[in-house]
Parts: sequence; structure tokens; C-alpha cells
Amino acid sequence: MNTNTARVETTLSLLMSVDGKITSGESDNLDSDRDWKRIQGVKEGLQQYYHYESIIAANSLNTGRVMAKIGINSRREKPKKDERLTFFIVDRKPHLNQNGVKYLAQWIGKLFIVTDNPGHPAFDLRSDYKNIQVIYYKEKVDLPDLFVHIRQEYGIEHMVIESGGTLNSVLVRQRLIDHVCIIVAPVLVGGRATSTLMDGYSLRMEEELVNLKALKLVKCSVLEHSYLRLSMTRSTKLPSIPISNEENKINSGWIYTGRYHVEGPYQYIFPIVLAFPGFNSFLELSIPRRTK
Ligand SMILES: NC(=O)c1ccc[n+]([C@@H]2O[C@H](COP(=O)([O-])OP(=O)(O)OC[C@H]3O[C@@H](n4cnc5c(N)ncnc54)[C@H](OP(=O)(O)O)[C@@H]3O)[C@@H](O)[C@H]2O)c1
Repeated sequence: MNTNTARVETTLSLLMSVDGKITSGESDNLDSDRDWKRIQGVKEGLQQYYHYESIIAANSLNTGRVMAKIGINSRREKPKKDERLTFFIVDRKPHLNQNGVKYLAQWIGKLFIVTDNPGHPAFDLRSDYKNIQVIYYKEKVDLPDLFVHIRQEYGIEHMVIESGGTLNSVLVRQRLIDHVCIIVAPVLVGGRATSTLMDGYSLRMEEELVNLKALKLVKCSVLEHSYLRLSMTRSTKLPSIPISNEENKINSGWIYTGRYHVEGPYQYIFPIVLAFPGFNSFLELSIPRRTK
């Protein structure tokens, strides 16, 4: 349930490296989906992200920018229809071309294109694809209004946010993210210009610190192959997304919630404190670089 009952409840759900990166590098030729399945020790557990995504993300919001990057615009094969899915795609530029919109309409049950661009290709495709709707803003895309609209107009109570760091930071700053559900892959990527969970502008003034709000740890699960699943909330209520029994594997000895000191043979190898801006729940973990 929302703290703000008028709008859709949201969970930001992403795949992230231990250092917070959501892709492999600066260039669009690099991509976590494509690249991480080639890395020994990372590829083995990657499927778990898609597994959890498929459980929680029936209703999701993403951007035309991400869709274009993953190659939707040039896909020619006919996708397998999945009526369960509803996508809200925010796309102003547009990043999606006609083929990309067609592909999504053939794949997704209900496709909503959110834009302030009167020339978006989705307008013309509505007569051929009845499952396309355009949510058009004359001035600029109004995200708080959109989130109220999604709940009030379409009756969607919960939605997963799957956009990249630029839009995520806008949504977080506008208090539109209620919960965060991150799959942490066992890899360090690095690079100042590599997208992170939250990019956008950096704070400069002390007065802006009011933007940092604490999150509470809901659950931390140790997955297979050194992956983690972190579930956190900024709401006083627990997220209404499913948290399955499969995740109850907090038994590896590597995970401590709270600020405990890590003892043992690996304490000197990678002591990492994931202290997200403003979080008051810390996760302190130690990952062995080699199996010793
Ligand atoms: N690992 C994961 O789970 C995961 C998930 C998603 C993305 N990614 C990666 O993240 C990277 C993409 O990052 P990104 O930051 O470029 O993507 P993004 O945040 O999804 O999209 C950026 C676009 O959002 C739009 N936007 C920004 N502010 C807006 C506002 N106030 N209102 C409406 N629209 C707004 C802009 O679109 P216009 O240009 O149309 O104005 C901008 O180009 C890619 O490398 C992608 O592969 C990874």
C-alpha cells in the first residue's frame, strides 16, 4: 500500500553490480544483459534476476531510451505474445521508432506510451494495434500526475520501475519510489560515466540534504552463485510484491544486517559497506575474491 493512497505503489527493481553500476560501461555497445552472461562466475547466477523480474513485473514502467538501447527498434522476428504484461514506456524524443512500437505492441498485453511529443510514432499505430494507448502531455510529461492516473484510471495498484539511472533519480527526487528491490551481481564494474542505480544531478548544497530519505531493510536474501537480493522500503508499510520462500536462504555466514564486525579468514579481502545515501539500514558483507 502507498503512503500516498492516490497514486500507484512503486518498486524500483534493477540488476546492479556490487559498486552500484547497472550496465558494463559508458557506451551503448556495452550492456549488463548482454555482457554479464559472458563473465565466468557472474553468468551462472544471472537467471535469478530474470526469475524475480518475471514474478513481480507484470505492470512495469520503463523508458524508450532503454528499449532502444536493448535493440527493440531493429527486432524483426515476431515476439511471443504475453497478455499478462502491461508496459508504461516514457518516451519523449522519441527513442522508439515505428518498428519498435509495433514490436512492443505485438509482445505486450497493454502498451502505454507516455510522451509530450505530438509526433510520436505510437499515435499512428493505434488504429492497427488496439492494445496501444498514448498518454499525452501537452507541456511536459508530469510524472506525479501520471502515477495518480495509472492508479485512478487503470486501477493498477502496484508497478515495477525498470528505467535507468537518469529517470530513476527524477522519480526518487519526486518521492515516487516506495520500495527498492535490487539483485546484486558479484562483480565490480567501475567507471565514473557508467550508469548507476541513480544518476541525474549531484547534490551541492547542505540545504539539499533534505532530499536524502532513509530506507528500511525489508529483507536480504543470499541467492545462488554469490548473488544477493535486497529489498528495502521508504514506506511504513511492507511492499505488496511477492517475496517467495525460495529467498529464505540467509544462511551463508557472509551476511550480517546491522553494523557487525566481520571476523574470519576473508575479512581482509573485500570488506564493503553498502551505505546507500540516507539509508539507516546497513548491509556489511565480505566477499571472498578467491575460493580458499
Ligand atoms: N541493470 C538494469 O537492471 C538496468 C535497467 C534499466 C536500464 N539499465 C541501463 O541503464 C542505462 C540507461 O540509463 P539512462 O539513464 O540513459 O536511462 P533512463 O533513465 O531509463 O532513460 C533516460 C531518458 O529518460 C527520459 N527522461 C529523463 N528525465 C525525464 C523526465 N523528467 N520526464 C520524462 N522523461 C524523462 C529522457 O528521455 P528523452 O530523451 O526522450 O527526453 C532520457 O533520455 C543503459 O545502459 C541501460 O542498459 C540497466
